[in-house]
Amino acid sequence: MKHCLILGAHSDVALAIAHQLAKEGHSLWLAARRFQDLEPIQKDLEIRYGVPVACFAFDAEKPESHQAFVEALPECPDEVYLVFGYLGPHPGSLEHPTDARRIVQVNFAGAVSVLQALALAMQKRGKGAIAGISSVAGERGRKSNFLYGSAKAGLSAYLDGLRNYGYHHGFHVCTVKPGFIRTAMTAGMDLPKPLTASPEQVAKATISGLRKKKGRVYVLPIWRWIMCLIRNIPDSMFRKKQL
Ligand SMILES: NC(=O)c1ccc[n+]([C@@H]2O[C@H](COP(=O)([O-])OP(=O)(O)OC[C@H]3O[C@@H](n4cnc5c(N)ncnc54)[C@H](OP(=O)(O)O)[C@@H]3O)[C@@H](O)[C@H]2O)c1
Repeated sequence: MKHCLILGAHSDVALAIAHQLAKEGHSLWLAARRFQDLEPIQKDLEIRYGVPVACFAFDAEKPESHQAFVEALPECPDEVYLVFGYLGPHPGSLEHPTDARRIVQVNFAGAVSVLQALALAMQKRGKGAIAGISSVAGERGRKSNFLYGSAKAGLSAYLDGLRNYGYHHGFHVCTVKPGFIRTAMTAGMDLPKPLTASPEQVAKATISGLRKKKGRVYVLPIWRWIMCLIRNIPDSMFRKKQL
């Protein structure tokens, strides 16, 4: 039985990961804001799968609390799933500075802050595995979401670098890059069906990618080729597109 920490446990993707891990018989540590609301989820997982589930308060926007959060865990987790993220209503705008800071704080600075403490614990123990949910949005800055995209680009680069560091210190890091996912974040958006994954597909690809020690995982393989094309459009053409 592994101890698996899920950061951002209220998200649809996190719930799908929790169900798959619990089905495999692992113990779960769920971490999220709105800590009290985790209780029904905890009870459901415990009853359904008969595994121990513990809950912890965690806020990505409070980096000063992250070291204490990691020290309060029963022990160093075997696996960490970093799932939280924030798109917000203004991911590509100059007119909402508070929201802009929040996008960077949650998706990049908050993620780095908590992973630094968790990776150090894994380094001291000489083993562990981390899966970080980033996004294909980080592969090229776009007009419509340059704040979210740049924060995810930072997260992807951090996860890639941490993987190279972890290789020499006994732990593995997997960068997960979903395209569209059908979740609360994209509720109301008209998403193209063949390019859109379910939370369960993201969970499956993430867990199996981590177990197979993959470096980067595109949840739907077609996104690897789409992003290859998008990265190679010349700047002079790309800036004219309403993307
Ligand atoms: N949906 C997509 O199309 C898509 C595509 C590519 C990548 N992703 C990434 O996939 C991951 C899961 O997203 P999702 O689609 O499941 O979205 P979601 O349902 O909106 O989940 C995002 C989660 O992040 C949590 N969160 C936001 N700010 C936080 C903070 N300051 N501290 C702690 N937790 C915070 C939210 O917590 P609360 O419940 O407390 O608000 C929420 O549970 C995210 O990293 C997202 O960026 C999503």
